Amino acid sequence: RKSAPLPDDIRARKGGVPLVSLTAYTTPMAQVMDAHCDFVLVGDSVGMVLHGLPSTLGVTLEMMILHGQAVRRGLSHAMMVVDMPFGSYEESPAQAFRNAARVMAETGAGAVKLEGGVAMEETIAFLVRRGIPVMAHIGLTPQSINTLGGYKVQGRGAAGEALLADARAVTRAGAFAVVLEKVPETLADLITAEVEIPTIGIGASAGCDGQILVVDDMLGLFTAFKAKFVKRYADLGEQAELAVAAYATEVRARQFPGPEHVFGDAAPGKKA
Ligand code: KIV
Ligand code: NA
Repeated sequence: RKSAPLPDDIRARKGGVPLVSLTAYTTPMAQVMDAHCDFVLVGDSVGMVLHGLPSTLGVTLEMMILHGQAVRRGLSHAMMVVDMPFGSYEESPAQAFRNAARVMAETGAGAVKLEGGVAMEETIAFLVRRGIPVMAHIGLTPQSINTLGGYKVQGRGAAGEALLADARAVTRAGAFAVVLEKVPETLADLITAEVEIPTIGIGASAGCDGQILVVDDMLGLFTAFKAKFVKRYADLGEQAELAVAAYATEVRARQFPGPEHVFGDAAPGKKA
């Protein structure tokens, strides 16, 4: 591919080969995934996986912009989407536009993502009509953890109707795609069939139009806990600890640095 897909290109992938995405927060990790992902999300999960916060509620607009800038420098193929953090968009469409415009201008993002369905319909429409592509996020919305009552599966039983209404609302508002987080597989399949924008699943269904995972989860770098929907494709955290332990042992035994890591008195090839 020559250049990054636009939100409309992502939208056009509805029903086709599944869209591939991961989160990223730094330049080197963005470089690792650039050639393999259709879009990369600078998720507010950065607060938990990189900053050690207990939830995403403490993530600020400044943090999202700083990490967005870092990720942007590592991408030349994938589109970048940046999460709007808690408190930066819920108050009013005007507040959302002011802050989303900063994110777009200061990071070079192709789109922003925000959490909420029916409640955010007006805000999403306000942003889209003013030039800001929006990815929606419904189901388990971690910024609402205090009113959802924990990180449980959303939309089971009668609550499925409300989730379908959320999916329809964000579609109507003009979102170009919607993340479905931690919802029953059959409901994810139903929503995928019912709305004309791509559904991006995380803890949803292989039938979604795309999938996303938190990169530190799938690489085994974030190990404080593992959600059922996470598949570990590597154990880099374990590898890192083994490397650090080996270094510590060698330093204490004066085995590191070795002869190849130290400097002679004369520059190579020159007489002293
Ligand atoms: O912040 C994040 O990482 C996300 C994804 C899990 C969708 O919102
Ligand atoms: Na997020």
